[in-house]
Amino acid sequence: MLRICVCVSGGGTNLQAVMDAIDAGGITNTEIVKVISNNRGAYALVRAESRGIDAAVVSPRDYADRELFNRAFLQCVDEAAPDLIVLAGFLVVLPPMMIQKYEGRIINIHPALIPSFCGKGYYGLKVHEAVLARGVKITGATVHFVDEGTDTGLIILQKAVEVQPDDTPEVLQKRVMEQAEWVILPQAIDMIANGRI
Ligand code: GRF
Repeated sequence: MLRICVCVSGGGTNLQAVMDAIDAGGITNTEIVKVISNNRGAYALVRAESRGIDAAVVSPRDYADRELFNRAFLQCVDEAAPDLIVLAGFLVVLPPMMIQKYEGRIINIHPALIPSFCGKGYYGLKVHEAVLARGVKITGATVHFVDEGTDTGLIILQKAVEVQPDDTPEVLQKRVMEQAEWVILPQAIDMIANGRI
């Protein structure tokens, strides 16, 4: 049974997609053992609690400096003893010591086709604003392993989504989530849980 810890910062729709896929059998041999957020107002926490999943908040704001936060965050993850850490809309830079300790066992969902529209400053709606500003006709989402860089780890899965002429960033974001993120994140977890990666 793959023990996964899901890190969230916002609405938690990717977390919801993972929970739903586990319930529906789209993901097998997997248990979400903990949800951790840096944001105590994240609706993702409501989603976790409504499904009886252990949830915790570890916010940089609650610590005198980054080092203290990093240590508290890593301890919160370690307590869950996860096999895999899933970053699902998580907006905090991971502590380097955590990336080393869980090397090859952290994955992230990015709302674009890496290496396009990724790296520092490319998150949330900003990604889709840049996609529309550039005028590309195809965008999508990427699941990748997390390394010390930003969106630079080995790519696991990608799924393309068409950009429509009258798209707004919000409309495009929703399409990318529905047609790509919520499909490939569960798929990647199931592959890892069943030894296909
Ligand atoms: C969204 O922008 C999504 O594309 C990205 O993280 C943000 C929040 O997602 N992966 P979620 O609804 O909290 O899963």
